[in-house]
Amino acid sequence: MAGEKNAFSVGSKSYTAVAVNTAARAGEWIKSKLGEFANLDVKTSHHDLVTEVDKGAEAMIKKLILTYFPSHSFLGEEGAEPGADGAIKALEKVREQEYVWIVDPLDGTTNFIHGFPFFSVSIALAHKGEVIVGVVYDPSKDEMFVAEKGKGAYLKGRRMHVSHDARLSESLLATGLPTDKTVNLPANLRGIQALSPQVRNIRIVGSAALHLAYVAAGRLSGFWEIGLNAWDLAAGSLLVTESGGKITDLHGNPYELSTRNVMVSNGMIHDDFRKALDEADAVV
Ligand code: IPD
Ligand code: CA
Ligand code: CA
Repeated sequence: MAGEKNAFSVGSKSYTAVAVNTAARAGEWIKSKLGEFANLDVKTSHHDLVTEVDKGAEAMIKKLILTYFPSHSFLGEEGAEPGADGAIKALEKVREQEYVWIVDPLDGTTNFIHGFPFFSVSIALAHKGEVIVGVVYDPSKDEMFVAEKGKGAYLKGRRMHVSHDARLSESLLATGLPTDKTVNLPANLRGIQALSPQVRNIRIVGSAALHLAYVAAGRLSGFWEIGLNAWDLAAGSLLVTESGGKITDLHGNPYELSTRNVMVSNGMIHDDFRKALDEADAVV
């Protein structure tokens, strides 16, 4: 249908092509700066860091995207006030807009700072609150994970599928350690303690967006984390659902842009995974 096609393209540039090209350019630039950044700033705590590379990458991404789509809105981590409140307010501001690009220019800053090659560029486009394009790029491995709503998710031209692990005992999970030491970290540690004897193993690798991409690619059976932001999750959420997986909050409610406490899986283990977190009092 001609009308539908036009809704997803401007001139000859599709939203997905712009997302992919922009992620590739930003990712290559970030990789070229590994071990070479000059300024390290502490945001809310010594767990929450930012460099001029995070800011430079976001500026580059914003400029490229808005060149193609000047009427669209842009939500990027570095344009928001630090901390959970800042992230929630920044999302509120753009929520009602028709088209919103949701960007984490460098997901895995701590890894980047330490030269640990597991970080990504995460770019999503939401239309009326629903993610329609999701791209996560890992420049270290040159892996571009791409999803379009209703059209599947792809890596290197091949369709991705979540894993077939049907039981927790066959599963490899990942999580992330929350910065909030009063409620979120203890809850997450209870979850790790309860789940680790039940699964094959648990990884904490330091890029939420890549953890989601790995669930989509079938490399992880599931992932959960407390206290994430829209830019950590938006692109990866579509990768997971377009690969046949499931993403909810920790209570089992469907994912939306405002979801912060998240669990993701191949779908088959979702109920057992959620039950284990619930029984461990790891649900906030
Ligand atoms: C962080 C990473 C990390 C996760 C943190 C995020 P950043 O994002 O995704 O894996 O555990 O919760 O804040 O700060 O590197 O963009
Ligand atoms: Ca992030
Ligand atoms: Ca970031």
